[in-house]
Amino acid sequence: MSKKRIIAIDGPAASGKSTVARAVAKELDCIFVDSGAFYRGVTWAALRRGASVKNPAEVLSTLKKSKWKVFVRDGASVFASDGVEPGEALRGKEVREAVADVAGVPEVRAFVVKKLRALRRFGSLSMEGRDIGSVVFPQTPFKFYLDANPEERAKRRHAELLAKGETEKAQEVLDSLQRRDEKDSSRKTAPLKVAEGAYVIDTSEQSIEEVTQTVLNRISELETPHVEVIGSPLFYRYTCDVFNAFLKTSNRLKVIGGGNIPKAGGLIVASNHSSYLDPPAVGAATRLVRTTHFMARDTLFEKPLMGWFLRNVGVISLDREKGDVRAMRTAIHLLKGGASVALFPEGTRSEDGTLQPPKPGIGFLVAKGQTPVLPVYVHGSHAAWSKSSGGLKHLPITVIIGRLITREEIQEMGKGREAYVKIGELIMERIAELKADFEEEIG
Ligand code: DC
Repeated sequence: MSKKRIIAIDGPAASGKSTVARAVAKELDCIFVDSGAFYRGVTWAALRRGASVKNPAEVLSTLKKSKWKVFVRDGASVFASDGVEPGEALRGKEVREAVADVAGVPEVRAFVVKKLRALRRFGSLSMEGRDIGSVVFPQTPFKFYLDANPEERAKRRHAELLAKGETEKAQEVLDSLQRRDEKDSSRKTAPLKVAEGAYVIDTSEQSIEEVTQTVLNRISELETPHVEVIGSPLFYRYTCDVFNAFLKTSNRLKVIGGGNIPKAGGLIVASNHSSYLDPPAVGAATRLVRTTHFMARDTLFEKPLMGWFLRNVGVISLDREKGDVRAMRTAIHLLKGGASVALFPEGTRSEDGTLQPPKPGIGFLVAKGQTPVLPVYVHGSHAAWSKSSGGLKHLPITVIIGRLITREEIQEMGKGREAYVKIGELIMERIAELKADFEEEIG
């Protein structure tokens, strides 16, 4: 028997999530769950009982009076309210126009979330919705967020409606979709957003088959047994615990976005670098999720105690003077074996703390490693300890972990020298965005 999986596929209306979730369910023998149907179901039931859907109290009162039964038929979840299955009524205009308001009522959400979680008893699930990865099953490693530009989504939805014989105009569909997007993403309870750790796929220019394949590849990548190659994983974790305790005491180390670290699968962690404190800070920030191989210049390995230490924590020795083929090979081998490798794309520490352009070898390694990249911004380490700081200062350090740059985004940059440059730039751009967002937040 295959193991139980919960696959969460979120995204805005008409991003393709329903078709993809269905295809993934079929491929992996899961139960397909359209969570939006539950919100539509509550809306439909309220309308049937003559409630005003703009009035949450009336909707809740009909919900309390109705009896719900959820079951599985033909590999998909189905429900009946008071013994009646809604069928096609769920897709009608009346329900469509009212559902976003109903789905914004916290008690309705609590009711639906409970029903969705209870589906686990039926087996593996491929569930599509808006908040599956963020609220319903935040612990699942299989989180996806499908997106597409509004025009493309409206085009798809319009074609669907025409096929069903409806007569709405393209512009009306676009307007209605944008109204729903706005409501779904601005509501107070469980707004539509990318869940921490979700794999974001832009479906604007991809076929359903391509997107489905991307999802399946990612699931298989996450399930590939990871070859533990660090000399002593226990020693690694112990070392990072010590770094963590030290940095917490000395520099009030804070980590933001820890949920974005994928628990498994080959991974490149790419951080800015302006202080000796950056590698320990990144190691400490990621240690609870996984071990990571850092890279350090080979001359450090020449000092006996240091060399012993670096080898035991799995650091890859790098000759910075020439393109180090052996180090690259080692890193690629590790990445292909499902390990995590941490890099500092700027190469050496930034003298003044500002972000530097990436070194050319970074794009090459990322392209060859064929893994996603986790952008990381370390804030405050330059002020805390740099060439100009005059020793260690007890100033705060924050490690901000951003959203994954997916393998597909990297592949889109193409191949060859030009692509390597673009990949390096993309990574530094994402780090710069994390920096800008964080600085705006702290003012
Ligand atoms: O995916 P759909 O169009 O059938 O969704 C119908 C409505 O329900 C839509 O306004 C968004 C909302 N919804 C939600 O809030 N959370 C979910 N998990 C799924 C749908």
